[in-house]
Amino acid sequence: MKIAVTGGCGFIGSHTVDLLLRNGHDVIVYDDLSTGSPENLGSGSRSVYGDLSTGILEDLGAGAKLYVGDITDRTELDAFFTQVRPEAVMHMAAQIDVQASMNNPSFDANVNIMGTVNILDMCNKHEVKRFVYSSSAAVYGIPEYLGIDENHPKNPESFYGYSKLVPETYIRKMSESCDMTYGIIRYANVYGPRQRAEGEGGVVAIFTNRMIKNRDCIIYGDGEQTRDFIYVKDIARANVLALESKMNFTANASTSVATSVNELFNVIKKRYGYRNKPIYKNAREGDVVHSWLTNDRIMQILEWNPEFDLKAGINDMAGVK
Ligand SMILES: NC(=O)c1ccc[n+]([C@@H]2O[C@H](COP(=O)([O-])OP(=O)(O)OC[C@H]3O[C@@H](n4cnc5c(N)ncnc54)[C@H](O)[C@@H]3O)[C@@H](O)[C@H]2O)c1
Repeated sequence: MKIAVTGGCGFIGSHTVDLLLRNGHDVIVYDDLSTGSPENLGSGSRSVYGDLSTGILEDLGAGAKLYVGDITDRTELDAFFTQVRPEAVMHMAAQIDVQASMNNPSFDANVNIMGTVNILDMCNKHEVKRFVYSSSAAVYGIPEYLGIDENHPKNPESFYGYSKLVPETYIRKMSESCDMTYGIIRYANVYGPRQRAEGEGGVVAIFTNRMIKNRDCIIYGDGEQTRDFIYVKDIARANVLALESKMNFTANASTSVATSVNELFNVIKKRYGYRNKPIYKNAREGDVVHSWLTNDRIMQILEWNPEFDLKAGINDMAGVK
């Protein structure tokens, strides 16, 4: 299948591209390289070469092609869809910095909401058949109960949470009026190779980077706060299965396991032979205390299940670029 992947040069996007290629799909990435890098596409089975000015870069090998463009630029998007004519779109391009969304909500909304609406317009115009969207647990806000299922109230704590939630409604509405099915996947805290520290699951990247350099690690609060950490290869597999499915669905992708920050610290510490104790600082205002998401729905719809527990993910991460 010919698949356009927005944000394919990013952390989760590049792992998804790896797997799509492995499954024999024809992959064309659309990315403005604001936080992603073409080097993320350089690992695994393919390489990207060429002039990064604009337009499609031909690959020299069995790899993905890269089109450097911004999802807020409708002219550029139209040129891309006209040239590529994808059958399916995996939409991952987004600004993902929660703090940035609070400091500059209009930028956040422009990229995450308007950017998605632009892409949906193009899908409609260019008769795309399948659309998969990377949503987030941030749409739920402070949990009213655990595990958070898909029917949990949606009260985002940040503009980022809203800018991930609003596009979900556009996707469902758009699919009613055109011949396009959709999968919406709300990821828990994703971690793995190629992650930058600023992201939602950034604590794993922060601890790992600091331990490798033998620097101190800071834990805010008593470290007993919990999160649902899911390995990026499991998320990539969920994305690919969702693209290959025709079902309309909205579902969490998570481990369904609550892991405390102290436990996380100890697993990474053991893997890297780090000797220091963490430095505890006051809890940050507004931090969610406990969070984990149910995953029964996605397991049923896509016959997906998380293959990596935390220890396996951290071990795998240590051996992967
Ligand atoms: N990392 C997590 O834990 C997590 C959790 C839930 C949901 N998500 C979602 O997953 C998706 C991928 O996140 P990630 O962690 O890989 O982030 P990332 O920053 O690594 O990837 C985002 C990609 O989108 C590109 N991009 C950003 N703005 C763009 C624009 N205007 N036009 C074109 N490309 C643009 C970036 O260059 C980058 O390659 C996002 O939609 C994010 O909201 C991530």
